[in-house]
Amino acid sequence: MTINIEAVATRSGESAIAKAEACVIVIFGATGDLTKRKLMPALCHLARQGALAEATLIIGVDREPVDTDAFRESMQAAVREAKGEQLFDAGEWCHFEQKLNYFACDLKEPGRYAGLAARIQELNGGALGNRLYYCATPPTLVAPIIDGIGVAGLADETAGWARIIIEKPFGRDLASAQALSDYVAGVFLEHQIYRIDHYLGKETVQNILVFRFGNALFEPVWNRNHIDYVEITAAETLGIGHRGGYYEEAGALRDMVTNHLMQLLALIAMEPPIAFDADAVRDKKIQVWRTIKPMTAAEVAEKTVRGQYGSGQIEGHAVPGYREESSVASDSNTETYVAAEFRIENWRWAGVPFYLRTGKRLARGVTELAVHFKRPPQPLFAGKTEFIEPNVIALRIHPNEGIDIRFDAKQPGSEMQTASVHMDFRYQQAFNMRIPEAYETLLLDALCGDATLFTRRDGVEAQWRLIDPILAAWRQQPSDAFPNYAAGSEGPKAADELLARNGHQWRLLDSQLTNTPQTGATK
Ligand code: BG6
Repeated sequence: MTINIEAVATRSGESAIAKAEACVIVIFGATGDLTKRKLMPALCHLARQGALAEATLIIGVDREPVDTDAFRESMQAAVREAKGEQLFDAGEWCHFEQKLNYFACDLKEPGRYAGLAARIQELNGGALGNRLYYCATPPTLVAPIIDGIGVAGLADETAGWARIIIEKPFGRDLASAQALSDYVAGVFLEHQIYRIDHYLGKETVQNILVFRFGNALFEPVWNRNHIDYVEITAAETLGIGHRGGYYEEAGALRDMVTNHLMQLLALIAMEPPIAFDADAVRDKKIQVWRTIKPMTAAEVAEKTVRGQYGSGQIEGHAVPGYREESSVASDSNTETYVAAEFRIENWRWAGVPFYLRTGKRLARGVTELAVHFKRPPQPLFAGKTEFIEPNVIALRIHPNEGIDIRFDAKQPGSEMQTASVHMDFRYQQAFNMRIPEAYETLLLDALCGDATLFTRRDGVEAQWRLIDPILAAWRQQPSDAFPNYAAGSEGPKAADELLARNGHQWRLLDSQLTNTPQTGATK
C-alpha cells in the first residue's frame, strides 16, 4: 500500500501537515450527531489547513429528505456551535461549503446505492475516482450500508482507491465481531477497512510511543524490575445524556474498555516495533492483548468491579442516577463503571498488575496513565517508620495534556528531610500551538492511506477474547448492589479494595496535580 503524503506549510502556530489526494468523501449518517459534532468541524479545519485537495468533494448521505442547500445550512450551524462563534470564520466556511453535497437515501435500501454511484460520478466529472466512506451511523446500519456499497460496485478500486471507516463498537462480543468482519470482507479487502478508535487520534495518546521509544531514558526501566504497577484511568463527569438507548445495550465495558482502554494498555506495555508503520505497530499491540490470559469466572469475580451511578452532585449541581436517565430501565443492570486488573504474562511484565478503570459521573473528568515505580531498595533518607514516596510517571491524556514525573528532593533545611516534587511537561506551554482534534488526525490518515492508528481485524478479536469472559460472568450473575456509587464520587468502594489487596491505591480523581512539593517522607 502506497502512502501518499506531501507535507504542506500551514499558518503560523500549526505544524506541517500531510496533504491528501483529491477524493470523494461519502458520509453515511450525515445528519447525525457524530457528523455534526466531530466530522464536519474536522473536515472544515483540514480544508482550512490546506490538507484537503481543492477538488475534494464531500457527499452527506442520510434518510432526511433535504436538499444540498439545507444540508449546507445545517452543517454551518453545527460547525459554528462546535467551534464557537468567535472561532468561526464565515469566509472560510463559504469556501468549504462548496465541497458539500447531499444525497437523500434510505441507508437500509441496497437498491438506492446505484443512485449514489451515479451522483458521485455526476459530481466528480464522470468518474468514481478515489472514495472514502465513513459509517457515522448506529452499528445496526453498517451491514445494510456494506450491502448497498457492494451491490452498486462502489468498493471497486479500478477507478481509484476506496476505503471505509467504521466506527466502534465493532461487534458486541467476539462472535458478532467476527461475523461483522466476515460480512465487511465480502465487499472490502482488509487494506480498505479502517476501524476507528478516536483515542488513537489524540496527540497525547500518540505521544506514549514517542515518550517510550523516542527517548533512551525511560525504556531501560520500563519493566517488572522497576515498575510496581500501572493505572489507566478514563473518568468522566458526564452522564449518558441522550444516549440511554445505546448505552443500555453497551455498558461501560463495551463502550470504553474494549477499545479505548485496551488501546492505552497496549501502548504502555508493547514491545518496540521494528518500524513505525501500520503492521509493525499493530503486530506489537496485538501481542500484548494475546499475552493476557482471558479470565475464568472466578477471576472475573476477584479481579473486576462494576458499578452504576446513583444520584449525586456534579460541580455543585444535583444530577439524577443512571436509572432515572431517559431511555434507561428503572431496574437497569447496565454498568456505568468498570475497574479491572489485568496481568501481562511475558518477561517484561510478569507480576506487574495493570489496573484499568473507567466510569461516568465521577468526581472529575480525567484520562491518564500512571506508571508507579518500586520504592528505592534502601530507605536511606527516611525516618524509622517512614518510606520515601515512590516515583510516578503520569501521562495525562486529558485535561492539562502533558506528562508529570514525581520524584523526591531534599527539602531545604539543616535536616535531611525529603519532599515529593513534580516535573511537569505541558503540551500547551511547550509547543504553544493548537492541539489537533483526534478526528482531524484520523480522517487525514485514512485519506492518506495510513492505517497505523486504526484497528486491524485480529486486534479487534484479540480484545474481545479478553472481554467475552467478563461479559459472560456478569450476565450469569447480575449485580444486586446497583446503584453502588454516588454521582460525583470516586466510584464504588470495591474498586479501592481491588487494589488494596495488592497494597496499591488509585490516584485520587479529585486532586489536581500541582508543582507544590508534598513535604515529609510519608508512608
Ligand atoms: C466514546 C464513548 O467512544 O468516548 C463515550 O462512546 C465517551 O461514552 C467518549 O464519553 C469519551 O471520549 P473523550 O474523547 O471525550 O475522552
